[in-house]
Amino acid sequence: MRSFVGFFAFALVIIGVLFVFSGRKFPQIPADPAHAGITKEANCMSCHGPGRTDPLKPTHPPKFSCFKCHKARRG
Ligand code: HEC
Ligand code: HEC
Repeated sequence: MRSFVGFFAFALVIIGVLFVFSGRKFPQIPADPAHAGITKEANCMSCHGPGRTDPLKPTHPPKFSCFKCHKARRG
């Protein structure tokens, strides 16, 4: 019984996390010449790094694994 309650609490946490993330809208990577053909996340920081042409806001979420949240706009 105890393990069932533990599993139930665990499942609730997972569902909560998924719910929070599904509600977030991540801006898509624009399909313009600046972004065409970029496949390495390291290259993003040449423009979006601190002090570059288009730096991320200080409030930006964790600055790694860009493609986890930002998908390329196609078509
Ligand atoms: C050559 C410079 C350059 C590189 C490299 C670059 N960006 Fe950008 N990015 C820009 C500029 C300038 C803008 C803002 C103007 C625009 O919409 O194109 C922008 C806008 C964006 C936006 C949209 C922001 C919004 O408010 O809609 C996202 C998301 C983004 N970039 C992600 C990325 C990611 C991820 C990478 C790496 C794969 C990357 N960028 C590489 C210059 C660059
Ligand atoms: C955890 C998810 C997540 C990751 C990882 C992530 N982003 Fe974002 N990004 C967001 C969200 C959410 C916004 C919108 C923030 C806002 O509107 O205040 C955003 C906004 C942006 C913007 C628009 C300008 C700004 O600062 O709001 C750019 C450009 C951008 N991201 C580039 C990147 C790059 C480059 C990386 C990788 C180094 C990256 N993002 C990683 C979630 C993410």
